[in-house]
Amino acid sequence: MSESSALKLPPGEGIIIDYHQLESVLARLEGLIETNGNVFKAKFPDQDSWVYNICDPEMAKHILVSNYKNYKKGVGIKQINVLLGRGIIVSEGDLWKRQRKMMQPLFSNKLLSHQLPLMISCADKLLASWDDDIKAGKPINMTESMSQTALDFILHALFSEDLDRIIEETGENPFLMVTDDSARDLLFARRFRQLTHLVNDMMQRRRAENRQPYDLLTMVMNATEKRSGEAMPEKLQIDEILTLIIAGHETTASVLNWTWYLLAQHTDIQQQVWAESQQHVGAEGMPGMEEIAQLTLTRQVLDESMRLYPPVWVLTRQALADDHFNGIDIPAGTDILIPPYLMHRNPAYWPEPEKFDPQRFSPDNIKKQHVGAYLPFAIGPRRCIGDSMAIQEMAVHIGRIIQKVHFELLPDQTIELEPLVNLRPKKDIFLQAIYR
Ligand code: HEM
Repeated sequence: MSESSALKLPPGEGIIIDYHQLESVLARLEGLIETNGNVFKAKFPDQDSWVYNICDPEMAKHILVSNYKNYKKGVGIKQINVLLGRGIIVSEGDLWKRQRKMMQPLFSNKLLSHQLPLMISCADKLLASWDDDIKAGKPINMTESMSQTALDFILHALFSEDLDRIIEETGENPFLMVTDDSARDLLFARRFRQLTHLVNDMMQRRRAENRQPYDLLTMVMNATEKRSGEAMPEKLQIDEILTLIIAGHETTASVLNWTWYLLAQHTDIQQQVWAESQQHVGAEGMPGMEEIAQLTLTRQVLDESMRLYPPVWVLTRQALADDHFNGIDIPAGTDILIPPYLMHRNPAYWPEPEKFDPQRFSPDNIKKQHVGAYLPFAIGPRRCIGDSMAIQEMAVHIGRIIQKVHFELLPDQTIELEPLVNLRPKKDIFLQAIYR
């Protein structure tokens, strides 16, 4: 890309952003927005082309929705590529379009309804696992627990009976390694890709035994392209399964972790969420989809939690061809960073942005929001395919657990952020759980 004087570029001459300085990157970007505005240009230390930082909702909408075809996934995608092969998070163009269509039926309302008992039992299992600690007054490691329960759900949603069989046969859960390491480096990728064999074995065994349990693996194995009637190639089936494991557990775990932390900080709201679940979700019986749909405050709390702590704290894209928006040129090859974390804290769109206020997401207030100013699941054709599943899973988890326990903060616990692939607390969050 050449830096022509005719181009109209946003401000930001001489700014270098080092994304390896993760410790300070959020504070630095926040400072740069204050001095340069919602759209500014910068460079990475090792690169000559521009990177645009965008906290303007209209421009985000242009890139993610109106002109999305001109943008491919950007910075960091190579790292995820090693992990997820050609799964739909990383694939582009026709391959992505074809795969996305084939994967869509996995996220239907019918499936959500089928998964409800599993969501409830995962929450109940977690609660039971805390029993000794709660009785002994020992704080609960929420970060670890949320990771375990989110993985428990997605693995059972994918593999149902086969997962239990593997655990029974081998005495361990081989997928647990995905919660081991948040660094997501090459070493992790290599270990993770070894799960390919395991998934492949499961698929072969199901075929040999002509077994088709009603779960996500069966749906991926049976996915066909509507027009041609062709099945999804086996290698892609495995990539999509691995994609669902990673995409489907880390993000949900992160939101739940932050949500419990926020509820422990705001005991009045925790009490209201408890009252709502008392009204609609039984502690022992099995609530149905209608009852879960009544958990409106719980959903507002989750929305507000994702505003303050969006797990995908930055969306990255790269311009394929020259583009232009609102007087700004975007030359081909420009890297784009759209950080939901900062967009969600922009006082122009979110008054008192640091305040935890679930009423921002009341049905009336939602109508007033700018569509590009709230991006926890991104927007446009590449928005999260699992958003409804995640929301339902998280609402069930909160609604079920809050029936039995309330949470309190531990004294002297300071929480610092660590923006890795997902936004995490630097140290695990511990909370005191007390039976009601
Ligand atoms: C609270 C939980 C979740 C959050 C915050 C979240 C967030 C996101 C975001 C921001 C994207 C877009 C990334 C981009 O455009 O660069 C995305 C994509 C995706 N998510 Fe989620 N996600 C969540 C849960 C899930 C679950 C439960 C699943 C599946 C089981 C899932 C599967 C995917 C997939 C497959 C994509 C790629 C979609 C495509 O490119 O077509 N996510 N997610």
